[in-house]
Amino acid sequence: MRQIQQPSRFIMRVTPSGTGCVGPVRVTRPASNALSNLRHAGKGPAVRRPSGASPRLNHRPISIRSPALPAQEIVQSLAEGFNPLPVVLFFTPGLLTLIYAFVKGKGNLSDGLSRVLTEVSQGYFQPSMGGENIPTAEGELSDLAGDEPLFKALYQWFMDNGGVFKLAFGPKAFIVISDPVVVKHLLKDNAFNYDKGVLAEILEPIMGKGLIPADLETWKVRRRQIVPAFHQAYLENCVKMFGDCTKKTMERLENASVSGTVIDMEQEFLNLGLDIIGIGVFNYDFGSINQQSPVIEAVYGVLKEAEHRSTFYIPYWNIPISKYVVPRQIQFNKDIKVINECLDELIDLAKSSRSVDDIEALQARDYSQVQDASLLRFLVDMRDADLEQKQLRDDLMTMLIAGHETTAAVLTWAIFLLATHPEIQEKAHAELERFADGTTPTLADIATVPYLRNIVAESLRLYPQPPILIRRALADDVLPPGLNGDPNGYPIGKGADLFISVWNLHRSPYLWKEPDAFRPERFSEANANPEFKEWAGYDPEKQGSSLYPNEVASDFAFLPFGGGIRKCVGDQFALMEATVCLMMTLSKYKFELAGSPSDVGMATGATIHTANGLKCRVVTR
Ligand code: HEM
Repeated sequence: MRQIQQPSRFIMRVTPSGTGCVGPVRVTRPASNALSNLRHAGKGPAVRRPSGASPRLNHRPISIRSPALPAQEIVQSLAEGFNPLPVVLFFTPGLLTLIYAFVKGKGNLSDGLSRVLTEVSQGYFQPSMGGENIPTAEGELSDLAGDEPLFKALYQWFMDNGGVFKLAFGPKAFIVISDPVVVKHLLKDNAFNYDKGVLAEILEPIMGKGLIPADLETWKVRRRQIVPAFHQAYLENCVKMFGDCTKKTMERLENASVSGTVIDMEQEFLNLGLDIIGIGVFNYDFGSINQQSPVIEAVYGVLKEAEHRSTFYIPYWNIPISKYVVPRQIQFNKDIKVINECLDELIDLAKSSRSVDDIEALQARDYSQVQDASLLRFLVDMRDADLEQKQLRDDLMTMLIAGHETTAAVLTWAIFLLATHPEIQEKAHAELERFADGTTPTLADIATVPYLRNIVAESLRLYPQPPILIRRALADDVLPPGLNGDPNGYPIGKGADLFISVWNLHRSPYLWKEPDAFRPERFSEANANPEFKEWAGYDPEKQGSSLYPNEVASDFAFLPFGGGIRKCVGDQFALMEATVCLMMTLSKYKFELAGSPSDVGMATGATIHTANGLKCRVVTR
């Protein structure tokens, strides 16, 4: 049994903000009730003590016989005949809970109390979790308050316990999967038996019935409408838009290069990603590369809250009073209102200029000529479109959140890896020589840079976004044994919670040679494990028409966009966005880290991002 060495930020992460008063509200109420209970029940000190009964009262000066006497009498009698033991006993559990929560929350009481609530409420009514033979890793819940992300701890347990194991934290257990055969079963072969579980509960207040948290019935209908919107002509037009937006980032890089200023590339990519997703999804130019606005602030506020929520398993924000008393919930509701108003305006505008067509006709439009080439336009113009305002808003909000930070994170880690591997950055520069004149790439150009595309894929392999996928069983199932599991498999019950560790899959020594090395060329080479017959290995020939490696070519060992029915709808959009941005920036500039790699640090919420920004020097080539 392995004790937890590397505690989590994913589940129990300490968040910087969140000074809400959930704690005090919960604690003070029982305290005052306790006092009044004592009085009413006549327990503890007698309120009406006959005067003179106490020698000390007899010596009080006359002045105390003022109109305030009853209150004073109460206080004094409390002080005198008072036996503190029942009160102490009554308050002790509350105080201990408070102290424990304070420590858990690293000084942030509201975060700490949420964690305590999580611990207490989990662990009951556990369904079958893999049967008798499933390897089990055990840890103490209290170990989970450190600084290392959970997915890194999961890697150690994977090495010790294999591709399917049960992770028990006190009474609560999860099944952790790091085996491609079992992952294929969950995401593809028996995918309808699983939903997003706790992730859906967390995201529902933000994304409503958008694709990620949607129930299966809603999901089926919306997915059928949204997928066709990412058609070839749309993507081709997006490539041009990616180039136009990146030009603004290039101006900032040019300034940094000329002045020798250190620049935080993570922030640059977040701003670029926001501008791109705004234009591509709902034809709204945030202009965040060059300015701040209430809408941008609200979007970042909501993203921060989404991240905060993804670190807790108890949706305390659903408690009705929390939106009135918890400052971060008050702010969150304000932010949502700002974004909703903005989205409502855009939806109304799109509806008011609706021009209905069949899907084929919409896909055949000349997107270089239309004024609004956004996904929203497509979703509104589609014949038989669902024009219900809230559904459209949920779809847009989901894509805004799903497509913004993720792509920015890929670019951030790609530049980090290139800056720490100058020889690979050199090779990329060499491939991009012919774009050095500032040419904006086209879709056809993306096909001519295989090495750079492999850099994007390798960055996603080493830093998958998100590093863990979450599922919950909707009915009983038996998980296949995978590479080295029990030949009978592992029975699980309805309600079992599962973590698919994409991080482990992507860095598994059973699946990849030199798994931790940054080696973009690996995606040009076929690769298999002769001892693992059930896994077909990685074969670039099986990529099909896709320009990038995927879960099909790797038989579910490489899943940066998931796989099966819930696979990311924006994968091509994101891959092309990352490629265009890297083509343009790397053809002109060389990136060097301003500090050491360890200064960059790592933090996780929904995605893996740096702890301290990606501070770079930009050198003109
Ligand atoms: C590099 C960038 C991106 C990465 C790494 C990424 C990753 C993922 C992953 C892993 C999933 C599957 C989650 C699961 O199975 O639990 C997913 C789903 C999804 N992604 Fe992305 N994504 C990216 C960009 C985008 C973009 C640009 C959009 C939209 C414009 C988008 C929209 C969605 C949606 C709507 C889903 C839910 C699909 C469904 O459940 O049917 N993503 N993404």
